[in-house]
Amino acid sequence: MNESIPQLLSYDEPSLEAAFATLAEDVRTTAAETAADPEAFRLHWLGRKQGRLKLISEAWLKSAPAEARKPLGIRFNQLKQQIEAALEAPASTASSPAAQGIDITLPGATRAPGIPHPLLKTMHEIVAVFHHLGYSTNLGPQVESDFYNFEALNFPPNHPARDTQDTLVIAHQQSRPSRDRLLMRTHTSPVQIRTMIDQAPPIRIVIPGKVHRNDAADATHSPIFHQVEGLCVDTNITFSDLKGTLDHAMKALFGSAVKTRFFPSFFPFTEPSADVQISCIFCNGKGCRKCKHSGWIELLGCGMVDPAVFAAVDQQRTAQGKPPAYNPANISGFAFGMGVERIAMIQHGISDIGHFYSGDMRFLEQFA
Ligand code: PHE
Repeated sequence: MNESIPQLLSYDEPSLEAAFATLAEDVRTTAAETAADPEAFRLHWLGRKQGRLKLISEAWLKSAPAEARKPLGIRFNQLKQQIEAALEAPASTASSPAAQGIDITLPGATRAPGIPHPLLKTMHEIVAVFHHLGYSTNLGPQVESDFYNFEALNFPPNHPARDTQDTLVIAHQQSRPSRDRLLMRTHTSPVQIRTMIDQAPPIRIVIPGKVHRNDAADATHSPIFHQVEGLCVDTNITFSDLKGTLDHAMKALFGSAVKTRFFPSFFPFTEPSADVQISCIFCNGKGCRKCKHSGWIELLGCGMVDPAVFAAVDQQRTAQGKPPAYNPANISGFAFGMGVERIAMIQHGISDIGHFYSGDMRFLEQFA
């Protein structure tokens, strides 16, 4: 600790400020270094002959212009007070555990390892089922254009089918053509379009992701939720491929005892369209409160890709200089989309969707 005396190059205010900040820092470090030996600390700074406080103040005051003596004196006084305070309360500046007032006999603070959120867990489970069937994963943007979210999926502008998927639209888009206006995507289906414009068949993809709708939050609805979409396009894809694939997926997710049934439904981008129901996993189809005494639980939407969708895709491919690849005369496909929250709620018997977003540890810990 035999440092030489630091130089003070100028007596103006900023230089003094900086020089004394460095000294104060020196006091703190030496206090920590000599925590076990306060007397050494005292001698180092306040020793009558060789103490640094004396040596430095003499050196700096000697060549100080008259008007700098007062500010220098004030600062040396403050430094001295800091040194004396460190001597009186070594605990606050020293580094040994005892000096820091740490009780080393207390049990340590345990930090629980994190776990995947139950929604992500279910989403991964669904995706994995399709990975095993040879599907790969595709993702798309949550802020989507009207073209991908609606128009290419055969929801014409102003068509009433759009009312079922009301959403938040991005402000200040009025000057853009309506197909370019941005909105929060209402489903993962726009990624079907993005994928087909990008790639020619065969296609087998799953699309997990976040979607948005203008729905009031209640026990089973949330304005932001998650879907897993699927798309399979190739030659000779039929409705029985769709049925077999989804029957397998439901058995993989809910157990081999579940049955599936397909109900006619409507989506603008599939024809024919169906809703898939599974036999109630709570009562094995006998009828209970959970399945409203029907024995069946409605789970997802699906259907054969509408030729109008293929036409929109090929039109866009051509516009981008790509060869058309989706002639419905020799290409067919199916698509499906399911809500992740709904599936997770059924898997775990959760009655309120809000639990997923509350961040309540008592809820989340149950999935560790
Ligand atoms: N996109 C539809 C929805 O969100 C679900 C769906 C996907 C239906 C694919 C058919 C085919 O309601």
